[in-house]
Amino acid sequence: MAEAGEFLVARDLTLSFGGVQAVNSVSFSIAKGELRGLIGPNGAGKSTLFHLISGHFYPDRGSLVFEGNRIENKSPAARAKMGISITFQAVHLFSGMTVLENVMVGGHSWTKHEWLEASFRLRRCRNEERSIREKAMWALTMVGLERYANQLAESLPLGRQRALQIARALCSMPKLLLLDEPASGLRGDERRELLSLLEKLHENALTMILIEHDVDFVTKVAPRISVLDQGQVIADGTPDEIREHPAVISAYLGTAISHEVN
Ligand SMILES: Nc1ncnc2c1ncn2[C@@H]1O[C@H](COP(=O)(O)OP(=O)(O)OP(=O)(O)O)[C@@H](O)[C@H]1O
Ligand SMILES: [Mg+2]
Repeated sequence: MAEAGEFLVARDLTLSFGGVQAVNSVSFSIAKGELRGLIGPNGAGKSTLFHLISGHFYPDRGSLVFEGNRIENKSPAARAKMGISITFQAVHLFSGMTVLENVMVGGHSWTKHEWLEASFRLRRCRNEERSIREKAMWALTMVGLERYANQLAESLPLGRQRALQIARALCSMPKLLLLDEPASGLRGDERRELLSLLEKLHENALTMILIEHDVDFVTKVAPRISVLDQGQVIADGTPDEIREHPAVISAYLGTAISHEVN
């Protein structure tokens, strides 16, 4: 049962692919305004869990309640409209389009205006376009990319492409942002910039779940961390509790908890 004030509550979420139990009876709850870290070894089920929250996958069983509404069977578009936004593990850019245009894609509510309807209602369409452009510029300013608005997106280095992905997600004015390894492949200075962006979004009370491999990175920004291994939550707690948790240490044996500080 959802407790009063809980923002996102998962109960017994389960999904298998053939014989692989990718997510196995996962339960958790996220409070409004929280920044929750989600870590775990390769193949632990982290991205699959995100796709169950965003609606790109449907669970075999279990429930998901967002702001008091059951959502586990709703489409990705319906969940996006309710305020759930995701940045994917791999960077997806529209090549040949500018940074601003790439971000504006995140602001279109295709479910509301089918393109045919929109073409018959040009004035409303133009108003909507203007409002999306304003939101996109706001999102670019939030992530510090406003000066690159008119450059081609593919000309940006990886760190800025990841910031662009976050701006695209922000352009839909989400209530819950799911970030799938935004720090992956970034250089030291790019990681520091990302950290301060996440801190800024957290200070602005945006609720976020952050998937990350580097335990040191996630412990710097997330006050509470959940650990997945083989589809199951094996630990949940503060950064110190997580570092000392025997199940976490053993899940990370072989990959060794990273102590790189960047
Ligand atoms: N679409 C799919 N079809 C079949 N199996 C899948 C699919 N997506 C994920 N899996 C399997 O489910 C398990 C969990 O994968 P998932 O991608 O969720 O892990 P992850 O924790 O995100 O890993 P990584 O850290 O490498 O990104 C793995 O065994 C993976 O091979
Ligand atoms: Mg993944």
